[in-house]
Formats: sequence, structure tokens, C-alpha cells
Amino acid sequence: MATGKRLINMVDWTKIRNDFPPLTRTINGRPVVYLDSACMALKPRQVINAMNEYYEQYPACGGRSIHRFGEEVSNAYHEARVKFARFLNAAEEAECIWTRNATESLNIVASSVKLPKGSKIITTSLEHHSGSLPFVERAKRDGLKIEIVKAQSDGTFNIEDWKKAIDRNTSLVSIVHSSNVTGTVAPMKEIVEIAHDRGTLVMSDDAQYAPHHPLDVQKLDVDFSAISAHKMCGPSGMGVLYGKLEHLKSMNMFLYGGDTVSDVRFENGVIIPEYLPPPEKFEAGLQNYAGAIGAGAAAEYLQAIGMHEIEKYERSLLDIALKRLCDMKHVQILGTKDINIKTGLVTFLVDTVSSAHDVATFLNDEFNVMVRSGWHCVGPFHYQMGIDPKKGTVRASFYLYNNRKDVDTFLSGLEALIEASK
Ligand SMILES: Cc1ncc(COP(=O)(O)O)c(C=O)c1O
Repeated sequence: MATGKRLINMVDWTKIRNDFPPLTRTINGRPVVYLDSACMALKPRQVINAMNEYYEQYPACGGRSIHRFGEEVSNAYHEARVKFARFLNAAEEAECIWTRNATESLNIVASSVKLPKGSKIITTSLEHHSGSLPFVERAKRDGLKIEIVKAQSDGTFNIEDWKKAIDRNTSLVSIVHSSNVTGTVAPMKEIVEIAHDRGTLVMSDDAQYAPHHPLDVQKLDVDFSAISAHKMCGPSGMGVLYGKLEHLKSMNMFLYGGDTVSDVRFENGVIIPEYLPPPEKFEAGLQNYAGAIGAGAAAEYLQAIGMHEIEKYERSLLDIALKRLCDMKHVQILGTKDINIKTGLVTFLVDTVSSAHDVATFLNDEFNVMVRSGWHCVGPFHYQMGIDPKKGTVRASFYLYNNRKDVDTFLSGLEALIEASK
């Protein structure tokens, strides 16, 4: 514990906050309090500068043109992949595929991984729609079985029910590592061990986990991981698919086209392509070079601060928020209150206000506090909990640039709303 405190103090969080230009803004004379990082994280100057440098200095196409700009962008694009692979501790950089977002990463696996006929996929009621629907549709497409294991009502992973569901016929499990609704962290190492024991592949949805916790794909031994760069201080519309090289090699392709081939012969009126190995296999067409460079810079930025420190710092903010929220009448928290198995977010209902959108609107209009309201693309868990998804829930999510004052403003705003709506 003492070590933890020392580590938190070693990072100058005020200096970090100053890296994020939008936090210097004032609206109606008041500072902004941004608590919607689980949806979209703010970007530090270091990421913005890396992307600007591409646009200002060498805004060309990578992997094709042999001129100077082409060479510079190819090098920067490769270097960004190396940085991301380092962030995940991937065995090889070719295991990191650039995608548009975590949704695309999940769809590539769901659509392209080879699964035996008649086998079963398992997922859970806590998945983001991007973690469940691609697999629901894959099961429909190929006539596979699909089983949905209900999360516990506090959002924790129901390991006992899941153990009953997984059998030797289960080819793949798709599991959200950290929930964007309850913030609960699934015991991924245990899940992987059990799954591999039965010959089952593990797709880990790390969209919320990767930005907030140390993620070591080799240590966890996951087969696939879906990551959203825009939730980890990277540019918007950028994601990563991590996959073990052997799986990426054996998978079907997702998109066909330019830059995926080593040769395309034309013989006897027939086109015969020879496809490249990963990562090119999954990166057809001209790429989002600025996006990849920004994502690499984001990974490097977070890693330099330290993911253990970020995790601890966020939990310290969450701890303050949770303690006060628990004492507030009319606030109902969704999910576990155990910060040791939680990412830095809290989702709740205010029983004096019928819609979550009204809570978010009040906090925004009166206090410049930006939180998220809605069903957070996790309809099944809202239905499971008997919450009308249309009225939704409110989510406040913390990140490395938030501070104690942000938490206090958020809680004061909520207290004012409850007082006004009683
Ligand atoms: C747990 C989880 N999985 C997947 C996604 C989809 O991420 P993206 O927007 O990068 O496609 C999100 C986005 O909120 C998420 O929270």
C-alpha cells in the first residue's frame, strides 16, 4: 500500500492535465469537467503534434511510393505499430492490425476466424453491442450455436455459469475485459486458462481495459484483443486488432484489394492473387497514416506515465466519487462498488429524475460537467436489470487528466439536481 502511494506521488498529474488543450477552455466563465472518457478520451499535445507533423511534413502514402515522403510515412507507420506492440507486449508487431475502431476489430474476428461446423460461441449479457452482435450474426451465418451467459447483477463475471456453459464443442468465447457500463473487470487470466483447456479461442474486448490498466497480451495469453485507440488518448476513428500470429495467418481475409498482395498474375484469362501475411493481409487500401501515427504516439505517451500509475490514480478518484455517491439519497449505483475490480467509471440512476438524459443535460448546462447518458450500447444488461434502456443510466468516467476538483464539481452538481428535483 505504501509503495502504491509513493508511485501515485511520483507522477505530476497537474502537469499531465496541462497536456490536454480542451481542459484550458472555459464555457460561460466556468472550467469544463470532462467525464466522458469511456466514450472518447481527450488527446494530449504529444498526439496532436505527431499527427500534425505527418500532415505538415510528409503527408503521403505509405508502403508504395519510393520518394522521400513515401519513405518517411512508411517508416513512421511502421514505428507506430512497433510502439503499439510494445504497449501490449505483443510478441511481434505484425500481431497488431490497424483498424477503424474496436468494433471493426471485433467484426474482423467474428467474420474471418475459422470455427468448426456445429460448434458453439459463448458471450455474455454485459457485452457492448460491438462485442456481441458480430458473433450473434456469425452464428446465424454459419448455423453455429450461441449461448449468452448472464452477468451477475453487480456486473461481475459469472464464472460458475460460464464454466457450466463452456464445453469441448465451444470454439470461441467473446468477453468484455472491462465493462463500459459497470466498470467491472473480468478475471481474464482464469477465463483464458479454462478456455484453452477446452481448446476454445478467447476474444477479449479491451476497448475499456487497455486505456486504464496494464495490458500484457502474452501474459494473459488471449487469442485476440480489440482495442479502441480513441479511448486511450489516440485519434478518433482508430483501433487495433491484436491477434496471435498463427491465428491471423490462418484466418480468412476480411477486405481484399491494394497492398494485400505480393503478386497478382494474369494467366489464361484468370487473375491469380498471392496474398501477403499479416499485418498487410488485413490492411487493404490506403490507410489512415495520421491515425496510426497518433495511436502509436498515444501508446507511447501512456506507457511513459505508466499504466499501473494511471490505474491507481483513476481508482483514487473513483474511490472519492463512489463513497460520496453511496451516501447520497436517491442515487442508485449500477454494478459493484469494489474499486479493486473496477475501471475508473461509475454508472447510476437518480430516482427523482425519470430520464438519464435529463441528469446529463442538467450537469452540462448548469455545471459544464460532461457525462454520458443512455444505454451505452449495452441493451441486454439494462433489460436484465429491469432498466428501461430508453430512459437509460448516467455514466461518469475518469481518466488521467481528471482531478479531485472535477470529482467535487460533478458531485456538487448532482447534489444540486437532487435538491431541485425532490
Ligand atoms: C466495451 C466496449 N467495447 C467496444 C466498444 C466499441 O468501441 P469503438 O467505438 O472503438 O468501436 C466500446 C465503445 O464504447 C466499448 O466500451
